[in-house]
Amino acid sequence: MEKQSDEYLGVMDAEYARGRLEKKYLNYRYRVRAQVAANAFREFHPHMKTVDVLEMGAADALTLLHIRELLGANGTFDGIEYAQELIDEAPALPSDTRVIQGDVMNLPDEIQDESYDLTSVLAVLEHLSNPQACVDEAFRVLKPGGIFVATCPNPFWDDVAGKFGMVADEFHETEVNSEVLVTLCQNAGFETIAYRPFMWVFTGVLPYIGVELDPQMSLMVDDLVHKMGLLDFSFVNQAVVAQKPK
Ligand SMILES: C[S@@+](CC[C@H](N)C(=O)[O-])C[C@H]1O[C@@H](n2cnc3c(N)ncnc32)[C@H](O)[C@@H]1O
Repeated sequence: MEKQSDEYLGVMDAEYARGRLEKKYLNYRYRVRAQVAANAFREFHPHMKTVDVLEMGAADALTLLHIRELLGANGTFDGIEYAQELIDEAPALPSDTRVIQGDVMNLPDEIQDESYDLTSVLAVLEHLSNPQACVDEAFRVLKPGGIFVATCPNPFWDDVAGKFGMVADEFHETEVNSEVLVTLCQNAGFETIAYRPFMWVFTGVLPYIGVELDPQMSLMVDDLVHKMGLLDFSFVNQAVVAQKPK
């Protein structure tokens, strides 16, 4: 795909979608991210029946579709993706789900203020030239009390995985660590902000050697390891969960 400018070096191509269908570890990784987003939402809104979701940087919509399933498939499920060729790789979408071509740092006009209960930015911020603009947009379009979830690979483990050829050679524009994640949320106006490492290095590696893992189960292991303390450096992924003031 022709990249339009340096601002969009983190935009991916159709190869990414094909890899997700073929490689078990990529499938596992996106299902864990979807589970992190759905679990975080349910923690704050356990009984909300209809949920309006915006997945920012939605690629081929597989993660969005999985979030939809996990939240009970009742509401509207929108995705924003810059690469039209990735949108074209999406499977047939249900009538409540769509992916719109656009920039997560400057959302299309049809995405209105205060219209979503959950905005997710999963494995995207590190690809952006201006992650703050994306988090600001996520805040703007959330309803009061709405939940924002962002995930990013831990820069240290991402580097290690790159050296062992375990992650594709993706372009990362920004190094996002725990402080950066929390600061992005604070700057946008979020008040309740929780930082959560996930995907323990020992479980995260299993899908690479062909062991199938249930995402919810692997997050339960993460929770146990996290509670033991002192081992937070051993998570390959990190999430921030924040609520827009009511
Ligand atoms: C690593 S993928 C993550 C996909 C999905 N969120 C998930 O968790 O499985 C990052 C996606 O963000 C998209 N992206 C990068 N920069 C973007 C931008 N400025 N606007 C919209 N999408 C963008 C990429 O093209 C790619 O599809």
